[in-house]
Amino acid sequence: MFCGQGWAQSLFASVLILCLLRPAVTVKHENFKTCEQSGFCKRNRAYADRAATLGQSWSSPYTLVSDSIKIKSGHVTGTVLKSLKGDTAESVRLPIKITFLQSGVARVTVDELKRQQKDIELRHGSSARKERYNEASLWALVAEDKPDTSANGESLNQETSVNYGPQNRYRAVINHKPFSINFFRDDELHVKLNSNGLLNMEHWRAKVDKAEQMEGEEPKGEGEDESTWWEETFGGNTDTKPKGPESVGMDITFPGYEYVYGIPGHASSLSLKQTRGGSGNYDQPYRLYNSDVFEYEMDSPMTLYGSIPFMQAHRGDSTVGVFWLNAAETWVDIVKRKVSSNPLSLGIGGTSDTETHWFSESGLLDVFVFLGPTPKDVIEQYSELTGYTQLPQQFAIGHHQCRWNYVSDEDVKDVDKKFDRADMPYDVIWLDIEYTDGKKYFTWDSHTFPDPLGMQKQLDDHERKLVIIIDPHIKNEDNYPVVSELKSKSLGIKDKNNNLFEGWCWPGSSHWIDCFNPAAIEWWKSLFAYKSFTGTAPNTFLWNDMNEPSVFNGPETTMPKDNIHYDNWEHRDLHNINGMTFVKATYDALIHRDSPVRRPFVLTRSYYAGSQRFGAMWTGDNLAQWSHLAASIPMILTHNIAGFPFSGADVGGFFGNPSPELLTRWYQAGAFYPFYRAHAHIDTRRREPYLLDDPYKEIITQALRLRYALLPAWYTAFHAASISGAPILQPHYYAHPSDEAGFALEDQFYVGSTGLLVKPVVTESAETVSIYLPPNELYYDYSTYSIHHGTGRTTTLAAPLSKIPILMQAGHIIPRKDRPRRSSGLMRYDPYTLLITLSPNATAEGTLYIDDGESYNYEEGAFIHRYFSFSENTLTSTDIDDAMQSNKGKKRRDYLNLMDQVRVEKIVVVGAPREWVGKKSVKVVEDGEERSVELGFTRGSGGRASWAVVRDPGVRVGRGWRVEF
Ligand code: NOJ
Repeated sequence: MFCGQGWAQSLFASVLILCLLRPAVTVKHENFKTCEQSGFCKRNRAYADRAATLGQSWSSPYTLVSDSIKIKSGHVTGTVLKSLKGDTAESVRLPIKITFLQSGVARVTVDELKRQQKDIELRHGSSARKERYNEASLWALVAEDKPDTSANGESLNQETSVNYGPQNRYRAVINHKPFSINFFRDDELHVKLNSNGLLNMEHWRAKVDKAEQMEGEEPKGEGEDESTWWEETFGGNTDTKPKGPESVGMDITFPGYEYVYGIPGHASSLSLKQTRGGSGNYDQPYRLYNSDVFEYEMDSPMTLYGSIPFMQAHRGDSTVGVFWLNAAETWVDIVKRKVSSNPLSLGIGGTSDTETHWFSESGLLDVFVFLGPTPKDVIEQYSELTGYTQLPQQFAIGHHQCRWNYVSDEDVKDVDKKFDRADMPYDVIWLDIEYTDGKKYFTWDSHTFPDPLGMQKQLDDHERKLVIIIDPHIKNEDNYPVVSELKSKSLGIKDKNNNLFEGWCWPGSSHWIDCFNPAAIEWWKSLFAYKSFTGTAPNTFLWNDMNEPSVFNGPETTMPKDNIHYDNWEHRDLHNINGMTFVKATYDALIHRDSPVRRPFVLTRSYYAGSQRFGAMWTGDNLAQWSHLAASIPMILTHNIAGFPFSGADVGGFFGNPSPELLTRWYQAGAFYPFYRAHAHIDTRRREPYLLDDPYKEIITQALRLRYALLPAWYTAFHAASISGAPILQPHYYAHPSDEAGFALEDQFYVGSTGLLVKPVVTESAETVSIYLPPNELYYDYSTYSIHHGTGRTTTLAAPLSKIPILMQAGHIIPRKDRPRRSSGLMRYDPYTLLITLSPNATAEGTLYIDDGESYNYEEGAFIHRYFSFSENTLTSTDIDDAMQSNKGKKRRDYLNLMDQVRVEKIVVVGAPREWVGKKSVKVVEDGEERSVELGFTRGSGGRASWAVVRDPGVRVGRGWRVEF
C-alpha cells in the first residue's frame, strides 16, 4: 500500500532534483544565432568538414604566384590565386602583403583585387562601399607599421623564406602551392597558417538566378549551396547582403601546444575549450559578435558584449599568439589533437596540436603572428600594437557604488553620508539612465535632480566623484535639441536605404550617433562642455552602455547588418568596432572638456582590441548567483591576458537579490577586481553594504579597507600595465610559465608583480579553500604569516566568512597605506608601509609608482618611481627612472617638493631571520645622515614565520635611502 505513495514521493524527489540541478539559465537562445543559423559560419564549417573528410586528397585551391613575389624593405608582396573549379585558368586574384615589423611581429594581409578596384556590382541599389573593409587597423592599432628592413628573404622551389625578428631568430616559410605559411623561432615550428587548407575568401560574384533553393535546403543539381549567399532571415529580420557571400576564413595551428587562452568576451574558462563536440567540449565555435545578451549563461562560447580576437597558445617552454584583425562577426573553432605519433611534433615539447579555425563574415584577412617566447612577451607585443591600458585617475581604482538607480540628488547625498557613517570607504557614486529627463541624454530630470551641482559639491567635499551614464541611442522626440542637431547635421547611422536609421532602445524610438564620422566626434565633444551640459562638474565622469549597439527591435538585439555608416561602410563590416568608436568619442570629449587636461574615466560595455586605451570594461548583466561570482574570475583573467586588464564584474550580481553571504563573498572577491564596482538592477532590493547586519557589514568594511590599503600596489600595477600591457591580475600560467600542472588554473591569481596570491571564495558555506602552490616556492599567509611550501599540489587554507584567502609569495616588497580614510583622494599624503616577504635566501624586491593621480603631469616627470630591494640585511630604495634625475622641469620639481614630507611610517619584514632575535635597532641612512631606529622582533611559532617591525624609520618615500638590519 505504500508502493503508490513511494512512487509519488520518488517522482516528486526526482522532479525536485531535476529542478535543482537544472541550471538557472534564462538566456533566450532563440534570439541569438547558432553556427548553423549563421550562413557564413555554416559554410566555413562545412568547408572544414569537406577538407577533413577528403583528408590527404583535399587540396587548398589557393596558390601564391611565384612570379608575383617581391621581397623588399621588410615586406613580401604578391598575388594569391584562388582557382575556381580546380582550374587556375579561372581564378580570383587576391593581393597579399606580409609585413615583418620591427617589433618582431609578422602581419599577413590578403585583399580581393576586384573589390580593391571597385569592379563589382551591388544588389538592391545599395550605396555601400565596394571594397572589403580595410579600416579596422585605423581604430584598433596605435603602432605604425614600421617594417623591419633587415628582414631578408629568398624564393626557391615554390617556397619563400624570410628571416626576421630579434637577431633574425624568426623565420617565415611561405609555401606557394598550396599557399601556406609556417612560422619558426630558433628553427622550431610554432605557428602554421593554412596548413589544413581552410583558407576561404569568398570572392565577389554576380547573382545568377537559378531554380529556387530554400534556406537550409541541399543544392539542387550542380553547384554550391547558395541558400545563404544572397540574403538571410533570422528572427523576422532579413539581411539583404548587397555584396553576396564575402566571408574570410583560415586555419591557424599551434603545433605542440595544448593550451590556448584569450578571445574574450565569453562566460567561459580561462583555458579555452574544444568546440567540435565531445565530452566536456562545446559543439559551437566561440563567437565574437558584440551583443546585449540578456541573462547570459555560464560555461558557454556564446558571444557577449565585446570582442578581442587575440589568442595565445602556451606550453611548458613557449608562448606564441595571433591577432585576427577583423571587425565583422567572427567565430573561432578549436580542436586539440594528440600527436605523439606526429613526426612534426617530436622534440618540440608538447604532445598535442591545437588547431584553430577562424572565420569572419566580411573584410580583409589580416592576421598578426607573435612568436613570444613567454606570455609576457606575447602580451607586450600585442599591447604595443593595439595600445596600452590608459593610466587611470587614482579614484577609478577605488570602490564604486552604482545601482539602477539612485532616484534623486537627495538620495545620492543620503547614500554618501551613510557610507561615511559606516566608515566604509568609497570613491564614486553612479547614476544610471533614470537621472535624465525621459532618457534624453545631456538633460537632468528637474523633479528628481533639481540640484546636481549641489549634489556634486557634497561628493567633492570628500574628493568623491560622480559617474553618469550616456548611451549612443538618441531619443527621437520633438524639441530635443540633441536629436534635432543629429538629424540636421546628418551624424547618425543610416539604414540600408540611406535614411536615418530608427530603432528602439530605452527611450523608445531612437537614432544612433555614428562615431565613425569625424564630424560626429567633433559634435559629441561639444555636448560635454560644462556650459552645454549644465549640471556637470569637474568631478563628473562617464559610463557608456548599450554600445554594441543594443537595439531592442533589431536582429539579435543589435543593428541590421545592411545599415550604412560614415563613408558608406556597411554595419556588417565594422560591427565589433562600433562600441569602441563611441567610447573614444566620449574619451576625446572629456579630454576636450577640461583645461588643464585631466585623465578621462569612461566605462564601456562593448569593446574591441584597442578599447583598453579609453577606460574600463565590465562583464555586463550578470546574475546574483554563486556561479556568476565564480565565472567572474576567469572572465576577468582572460581580459587581463588579452590586453584589457582594467576589467570588473558587477559586485553582488546585477539581476536578483544576493544573500548576505553571497554579497559578502562578492565584495571580498571584488576587492581584487581591477575595476571594483557594485551594481544592481532596478527591480532589486537596496543593497548598499552598510544596510547589512554584522558580521557581514563588518566583514565587507574590512574588504573595502583592504582594497584601499593596497591602493599603492594597485596603482603601481596599473602603471606597469600602462607602459607594457602587463596584466594587472596574473593567472598562474603567466606567473609560472613552466609549471604545466597549473596551466588550466583559473580561480587564483597574483596581483601585478606583488606576489600577492589570491583565491577568492566563490562557493556557498565554504570554510576552507584549496589553493595550488607551484613547486619550490615559499608563501606566507597574508594575515597570520603562517608558512606554506609549494610542492606542485594543492593545500588547504582556512576561509571562514571573515577571511579572504591571500598568500604572499616570498621575495616581494609590497607598498601599502594603512590609515583608513573615506576616499582615495584623502589618502594622497598619507605615509606608507612596506611589507617585505623574505625569500629563503633573505632577499626581496618590489616597486612603487606614485603621481598626482589625475593629471598628465607625469608625462613631464611629475612622478615618483622607486625600486626597493632587500639583500644582505639591507633594504634599499633607489630611483627606477634614472634618466629623470636630470629632469629639472618645473612640474617635476613642484611635485617632488610637494611629496617630500611623505614618509614610510612602517617596515614589516615577514620571514625575519632568527639571527635578528635580540636585535633592538636598525641603522637608517638617508641623505648621508645616519640614525638608529627601534626594531621589534616576534619569533614565529606554530608554523608561523618570525617577523620584525621598524616603526617610523622616518625615511621619505621619494628619496634614496637604506635601512641596515
Ligand atoms: C544595461 C547595463 O548592462 C546595466 O548595467 C544598466 O543598469 C542598464 N543597461 C540600464 O542602463
